[in-house]
Amino acid sequence: MTVCVRPLLVGTATHVPGLRNLTARRTGGTASARYCYSVWLRHLVMAHMHGIDTRFGTVAELGPGDSLGMGLAALLSGAERYDALDVARYAESAHNVAIFDALVTLFQSRAPIPGGDEFPLVMPLLPSYDFPHHILTDERLAAALDPQRLAMIRAALVTLDEPNAETSVIAYVAPWDDATAIEPASVDFIFSQAVLQYPPDLATTYRAMDRWLKPGGTMSHDIDFKCHGMTREWSGHWTCSDRVWSLVNGRRRDALNRAPHSTHIDLVHSLDYEIACDLRTEAPPAITRAQLAPRFRHLTDDDLTISSAFIQARKPLEI
Ligand SMILES: C[S@@+](CC[C@H](N)C(=O)[O-])C[C@H]1O[C@@H](n2cnc3c(N)ncnc32)[C@H](O)[C@@H]1O
Repeated sequence: MTVCVRPLLVGTATHVPGLRNLTARRTGGTASARYCYSVWLRHLVMAHMHGIDTRFGTVAELGPGDSLGMGLAALLSGAERYDALDVARYAESAHNVAIFDALVTLFQSRAPIPGGDEFPLVMPLLPSYDFPHHILTDERLAAALDPQRLAMIRAALVTLDEPNAETSVIAYVAPWDDATAIEPASVDFIFSQAVLQYPPDLATTYRAMDRWLKPGGTMSHDIDFKCHGMTREWSGHWTCSDRVWSLVNGRRRDALNRAPHSTHIDLVHSLDYEIACDLRTEAPPAITRAQLAPRFRHLTDDDLTISSAFIQARKPLEI
């Protein structure tokens, strides 16, 4: 048994009435404008590197977490509209406005992309962290950062917490629970960072993203396959039986789905998408095949060493 004691205690505690909310009250990095700037520009630079036209109409994001900062960075790069979908409403208006103001300053000053010194765990790694002038030209940024446009986006953010708020530039749907959350074939680029390791029904999540993307649109995901400290070995979660895993997780909001790299690739292929990029991060194998729980015996040898991946894939154009 490789399960760590602390997560087991937390998982057990989630069964106590009132304690479930102790898990996933905060979600990660998007509380920082520099993190949002860094992550969005990594998705953008990688898309450009793989021949994807980055002049997006609508950008959608799964799991923005503590702020809408990454989508706001997309708007400040010239995207016309941003749709954010999360399972809970973590991002508050006042915080979004503060992040937006800080992002405007970063774009106006063409700040370099914060890299490994500042965010050592953030993927994907880039060949250069210089500001991407070749993508975000002065002409493109002059239009994106036009003062009237900035005022319009800021005003939309201020009202976003109001019940039934409707803005033409930002939609924040949280919780989202079915594919009707976004108009079909309305999105040019859908992205996520550290999110797709959570949805319990990945096939449904991929089908929803497929429904939202326009023909020729792109999905861009950074996915972490590690155990998040639940077991001693980074890949120890694949050794736990379903019974042990459900004990460790209890009623946590942020339970991992434990899907390995090959499951994501199979799902992308099942949609007939063209994989533009499958950038894998490897870690030394920490478990043997004999230790795999029965439902993970199908894992490939590659799965046992791929600890995270950055995947970009294009939806086919209609014939
Ligand atoms: C680790 S946090 C990452 C937040 C942010 N993307 C970042 O980079 O800091 C995971 C996020 O995914 C969200 N999430 C989990 N399952 C989801 C789903 N099925 N659809 C949308 N968001 C989901 C969580 O609510 C949370 O906001």
